[in-house]
Amino acid sequence: MLGQSSVRVVLLAVAVGLYLIPSPIDPEPYIFEGPPPALDGPLAVNTRLQRGRRLFSGRLKGPESFTADQSGNIYTGTVDGKLWRINKESLTFITQMGQNVPECGTCMDYEPVCGRPHGLRLDRDGQLIVADSYQGLFKVDPWTGEKTLLHSSKEGADGIPFGFLNGLEISKNGTVFFTDSSSKWGRRHVRYEVLETNQLGRLLSYDPLTGDVRTLLDSLYMPNGFAFSPDEDFLLLAETSIGHIIKFWLKGPKAGSKETVLNNMIGYPDNIRLSDRGTFLVGITTVRFHGRLFPPFLDLIGPYPALKRFIVKLIPLSWYNVLLPKYGLVLELGPDGEVIDSLHDPTGSLTWAVSDVFQQGAHYYLGSTDLPFLPVLEEWS
Ligand SMILES: *[C@@H]1O[C@H](CO)[C@@H](O)[C@H](O)[C@H]1NC(C)=O
Repeated sequence: MLGQSSVRVVLLAVAVGLYLIPSPIDPEPYIFEGPPPALDGPLAVNTRLQRGRRLFSGRLKGPESFTADQSGNIYTGTVDGKLWRINKESLTFITQMGQNVPECGTCMDYEPVCGRPHGLRLDRDGQLIVADSYQGLFKVDPWTGEKTLLHSSKEGADGIPFGFLNGLEISKNGTVFFTDSSSKWGRRHVRYEVLETNQLGRLLSYDPLTGDVRTLLDSLYMPNGFAFSPDEDFLLLAETSIGHIIKFWLKGPKAGSKETVLNNMIGYPDNIRLSDRGTFLVGITTVRFHGRLFPPFLDLIGPYPALKRFIVKLIPLSWYNVLLPKYGLVLELGPDGEVIDSLHDPTGSLTWAVSDVFQQGAHYYLGSTDLPFLPVLEEWS
């Protein structure tokens, strides 16, 4: 049996050991503009996000972003690095973005090998333009699966490689806009990226005629999804790690400038999509509500870099999900970023951790980064 003093020595050794291990992250303090907003008015709790069903359970894991063609086929990419076409209840494999090895989809460490498609849209020729989170921008023929690398992450822009390609939109003139959420942490380390709260993200454009890549905005906090206004006079962009929505002007006297239109959000925003009502739909990946045991975890530790540095030594990346509530939430914003409506699934009965809200007629396809099904909301009511 160990005596009390030897137990003390062992504990002390463990504590000193932990203290001495270098932390993987180099965090900045982050303090929200206030406590999370009250759940009233347009944010009042409801169960409207529960009125749908789950498709392809166990077959489609983490459909992050969606697009559709003229015939109503829907396209999406999953956590195992695969691209899919969906037609009503049928699912067709298009291609593997990286190498198709058995480990794809089973272990995050394989994502850089398998690929991880995030934002994807169809160009004017009906080809898919895909932001693979790790490898770069691709063009993929949606019918043959043939893929072409357009611009590699290694090459990046302005001498800085891309670390975490994420959102993608194509403007009416064919220019591809996309975000690199971080030049430091890849997708599988997104928790580090959020905890670190750095400003290493960029909004970029790719000209398909010349192949030129330009930086439109840099020093962003984990820029993620974005959407053009109907006239493309501005875009709204989510800065996920600090819960902001910014407006970036593309036309008019303010062209080239940005302003924060929404801060201290109720949760961490992911993709933003234009609805056919001209409003913006935002998927909330993690809410800032009080859990049963804790105040919102990230609010609590945000201001303390030393604590954040220490916590990541103790908690394996895969455990953070346990600390976060399973609460489905989607926001509807007006053109100035004002919240006009919200749909909730307080128990996660249809979904939670929403990455994308893609409208197709009366239906809304709800994305996620790792849930093993495709939730479809049957009406916005
Ligand atoms: C293409 O459209 C985008 C978005 O409206 C705009 O910012 C860009 O300047 C346009 N490019 C050209 C070459 O007209």
